[in-house]
Amino acid sequence: MAVEESEAAGVVYSRNHPFMAPVLRNVNLNGPGSAKETRHIELLLEGSGIGYECGDSLGVFPTNDVELVDLALEALGSNGEETVADAQWGTLPLRAALLRRYELNNVPPNLVKAVAERSGDARLGELALPGNQKALEAYADGRDSIDLILDHPGMRLSAQEFVACLRRMRPRLYSIASSPKANPGRAHLTVAVVRYEHRGRSRLGVASTYLAERIGEGGFAPIFLHRSKFRMPEDGAAPMIMVGPGTGVAPFRAFLQEREALGQRGDNWLFFGDQRGATDFLYGPEFEAMRDKGLLSRLSLAWSREGPRKVYVQHLMLEAGAEIWSWLERGAHFYVCGDASRMAAEVDAALRQIVRDHGGRDEDAAGEYLEAMKKVRRYQRDVY
Ligand SMILES: Cc1cc2nc3c(=O)[nH]c(=O)nc-3n(C[C@H](O)[C@H](O)[C@H](O)COP(=O)(O)OP(=O)(O)OC[C@H]3O[C@@H](n4cnc5c(N)ncnc54)[C@H](O)[C@@H]3O)c2cc1C
Ligand SMILES: NC(=O)c1ccc[n+]([C@@H]2O[C@H](COP(=O)([O-])OP(=O)(O)OC[C@H]3O[C@@H](n4cnc5c(N)ncnc54)[C@H](OP(=O)(O)O)[C@@H]3O)[C@@H](O)[C@H]2O)c1
Repeated sequence: MAVEESEAAGVVYSRNHPFMAPVLRNVNLNGPGSAKETRHIELLLEGSGIGYECGDSLGVFPTNDVELVDLALEALGSNGEETVADAQWGTLPLRAALLRRYELNNVPPNLVKAVAERSGDARLGELALPGNQKALEAYADGRDSIDLILDHPGMRLSAQEFVACLRRMRPRLYSIASSPKANPGRAHLTVAVVRYEHRGRSRLGVASTYLAERIGEGGFAPIFLHRSKFRMPEDGAAPMIMVGPGTGVAPFRAFLQEREALGQRGDNWLFFGDQRGATDFLYGPEFEAMRDKGLLSRLSLAWSREGPRKVYVQHLMLEAGAEIWSWLERGAHFYVCGDASRMAAEVDAALRQIVRDHGGRDEDAAGEYLEAMKKVRRYQRDVY
């Protein structure tokens, strides 16, 4: 991880000392009726000394939801005023500790062990044994720390014992969706809000709902700069092919703004996808305007829930394989951003197939072609 510091008026901001960035805008990019919520967030960086480049991310330190903290306190039988000691944070009231300092929405193995010991729950005890990682992960899926306490009502666990088992709150990273040339002193983020139901309780992703719901316009977000190696071509005339479904589109909005601000003439091709065109085309009017004025030479849109079968970005890539191959042979840089679990591998497989089918190469030679692209940074991924 890159450790980044910025300095303004003698104050150094970093992961250990985040800058409190004013939130200028916080709006939903999805239209009415969408199954999703994706927030466009604009932060003011003036006074932070943060000088970012396109491709960088911001780290955000979230605060837990007050209702979740209340639920934890109720489960522990605490009013939140008793103090807990933390090696890093010193002594602080339990409520404050649970609000800002610890993660509540996961199942730390130490807590499983402690609850198993205190409650005598043999099944839980087994999960805590070394070698039972897979079973523990399956148990933890969708559960949180509070479930463990609620599921063992007779058990006593002190506030100190509870927090000693929790993970410290970690910052979440968000790709910067703006170019600093087009937006001096500002950074934009594109945040998919994580909400789901599990065991009769609605669950909230801590950082995405913090950004979406708990700091509105006029609030402040604790942030730091996370430098990336994900970079635009140095040559402004080099073509770019950008594949960014969902929030993966964020850095490509930045790349395109930057190319426009610098008057760079290289061809640009964006593959974007989401559930439905009518409600989920993130920054749709902006990208359509970029296409109309020629900044985007090609715009390929994959709507996965509009027809009888799923259409994904990689399906459109395969349909346009001959053209993608000709762009690659013209020196195009190929970028992928977004979901790491399946999308990035499937896009890689599609690209490999294009090199095979249109470049007349066998499997091994196609692999070598892509490896050679990676070596000279013409094939870059930023997936999470
Ligand atoms: C380099 C980088 C760049 C990133 N850029 C962006 C970006 O631009 N935009 C963006 O939105 N995100 C981005 N992310 C992801 C982001 O950092 C967070 O991981 C994401 O917002 C979720 O964080 P959270 O705190 O809201 O959720 P958490 O509280 O961390 O909860 C997420 C967890 O909830 C669980 N979960 C989620 N949905 C379900 C479900 N349906 N059922 C059961 N369990 C579920 C999963 O275990 C998941 O890991 C990026 C990540 C990295 C590493
Ligand atoms: N590692 C992570 O934690 C992580 C990473 C990315 C996204 N997510 C979660 O996903 C939610 C939304 O994220 P997002 O807005 O960025 O969008 P997303 O879920 O990545 O979806 C964007 C588009 O990609 C499609 N898609 C699904 N599987 C795909 C695949 N294998 N190949 C190509 N496209 C595929 C989706 O279609 P369908 O949904 O219709 O199938 C949708 O049309 C959030 O809750 C976020 O937390 C989590």
